[in-house]
Amino acid sequence: ARRNQLAGKKVIVTAGGTVERLDPVRYLTNDSSGKMGYAIAEAAYMMGADVTLISGRATIAPPAHVHTIQVESAEQMLEAVLEHFHQADIVVKAAAVADYRPVLQAKQKMKKTADQLTIELEKTTDILQTIGEQKKGQFLVGFAAETNNVEQYAMDKLRRKHCDLIVANDVSAEGVGFDVDTNVVQIYNAAGLVTTIPLMQKSSIATQLMEVVAACLTEKRRL
Ligand code: PMT
Repeated sequence: ARRNQLAGKKVIVTAGGTVERLDPVRYLTNDSSGKMGYAIAEAAYMMGADVTLISGRATIAPPAHVHTIQVESAEQMLEAVLEHFHQADIVVKAAAVADYRPVLQAKQKMKKTADQLTIELEKTTDILQTIGEQKKGQFLVGFAAETNNVEQYAMDKLRRKHCDLIVANDVSAEGVGFDVDTNVVQIYNAAGLVTTIPLMQKSSIATQLMEVVAACLTEKRRL
């Protein structure tokens, strides 16, 4: 049965990997399966929230009952997030957004010609940073996928992107991060480590994460 810790809260969750096209049949993407973000959307729904899931490419079906918006590129994800951001109370950014996209997107399939081909890339807009700079009371939860200096890089992202919490996963470890069914995360706030959630199913990680978020909101109300 649904519980009510997040009743009345509007939650945006981003999930999956963005797809950055080179031409109509080729693209750059990453190993995100959508599992982590979909589990968070489901957990927030089960806690009574009104959830909008904004999803890039994923390998599983989105949770039933959750309003899902499918997007392809980082630019489309940015647009969808900006459209819903003003009404949101909580935003959780579990998506693996491409940092770079091809400068040119060919309208027709690229032909095989030279022996070597150089593809020029340009930076995408940082969605989390953009909403971090615009936020008016929204509770912002970022993710940090790291392979080294996890705490330092995660804290750096938390400050730079104006997050209330950042969820770090060391994606070089076994059973952690991209595509697998389990995860291990460290949750940080501006003061440092809040909690570590040990190896477990992404569904359980998601529930515990959203309980931390709900507790932070209750605390904020009391202050
Ligand atoms: O989908 P799964 O297979 O279950 O895998 C889960 C996951 C590993 C993708 C997930 O747990 C995770 O770590 N997601 C964030 C991946 C990522 O892109 O991390 P990052 O450290 O590069 O980015 C930091 C934060 O900035 C993220 O919240 C990201 O959504 C955001 N970002 C990044 C670039 C960009 N242009 N815009 C963004 O908003």
